[in-house]
Amino acid sequence: MTTDKENKGSRFESMCVPGSLEPADLASLDWSKLGFSVTVTPYMGGSVAGPDGVFEPCAVVKTGVLRVPPQACALNYGQSIFEGMKARRGVDGKIRLFRPEANAARFARSAERFMMPAVPQDLFIETVTKVVKANRDYIPPAEKGSLYIRPVLFGIGKTLQPAPADTTMFVVYVQPVGVYFKGMATISIKADDTFQRAAARGTGWVKAAGNYAPCFLPAYEAKHEGFSDVLYLDHDGVNVEEVGSANFAMVKGGKLYVADSPSILKGITRDSVMRIAMEMLGIEVVFAPLELERVLGLGKYASEGPADEAFCTGTAAAISPIGSMKWKGQSYTFGGGAIGPITQKLFDAIDGIQTGRRPDPYGWTVVVE
Ligand code: PLP
Ligand code: COI
Repeated sequence: MTTDKENKGSRFESMCVPGSLEPADLASLDWSKLGFSVTVTPYMGGSVAGPDGVFEPCAVVKTGVLRVPPQACALNYGQSIFEGMKARRGVDGKIRLFRPEANAARFARSAERFMMPAVPQDLFIETVTKVVKANRDYIPPAEKGSLYIRPVLFGIGKTLQPAPADTTMFVVYVQPVGVYFKGMATISIKADDTFQRAAARGTGWVKAAGNYAPCFLPAYEAKHEGFSDVLYLDHDGVNVEEVGSANFAMVKGGKLYVADSPSILKGITRDSVMRIAMEMLGIEVVFAPLELERVLGLGKYASEGPADEAFCTGTAAAISPIGSMKWKGQSYTFGGGAIGPITQKLFDAIDGIQTGRRPDPYGWTVVVE
């Protein structure tokens, strides 16, 4: 294992205070009570690129705060992107990552749009793997949760001009998590056209830190009204976009409709679900803009009624079944509010692959040796 002794003198090490954050006491962690909140683990990793845009070899250090100047571009102008991944302990005891190269590729696309040097795929996967291994004791037992992996890339260099920083920091930290919404229990969602998550030709497709803070207020209001989250619509208020942290899909008449839009995040779970549906379950998939009226059975879809099943997909959210949706004061129920059979099959398939309970015909999982 790499330790804080290795790569001593790296720029990364000089830009953090290793060991300054106390890790959670392992003995006091209750795996069955994990939600999606902060738990500090002992090690983090990272690398820094200077003006030449070349990242140094990664260093794994004891977890600590970062030395960020007040003039850092990320703080002042939001030059910050991230990824979300999970390592899972399988039923066979092996630790698996899920499609890490897809996260590396999306991280690189996000970096390019925000004018930061892209972290090369090898460095991305090496850092993730080393940090997971270093914190392996914090990976929940099989079926009890996951080790959530958070790679972050941000402009740490000082700027006053609204322009890219000359120094970019890549950090990977990990922590155990349980369910994000309610796991495999149905949630209620509020469809909303008073707030928009992303502009039509903006950066909604980028996993930018700045896409999330604007969703805090709508989500806070929705939670206050008893909903788990908000379903955002496009700029015309016609098509479904996504939930603030997950993509949206529904089942109607045996077909799977997966919402697409240029301004939403291209989810890796969404992509995996579509392949499983088409190739393993033989379900027809309609991957296109999806009208809210089609979801709710309104307007020209009135004779069809609301979706038979609805769910959202994401690394944190996994597959979260949606039992009902509120729109303009009316409540619509999908499949009697219960978990739909296709939703359950998709969950079982993807969860089975991620935990080694089922074969992985696509080679999506990477075992951390
Ligand atoms: N949409 C948003 C806004 C997200 O933050 C996420 C989570 O990463 C997703 C969708 C789902 O993406 P993925 O399945 O790659 O985790
Ligand atoms: C993820 O699913 O990994 C995400 O990044 C969403 C996050 C807001 C929890």
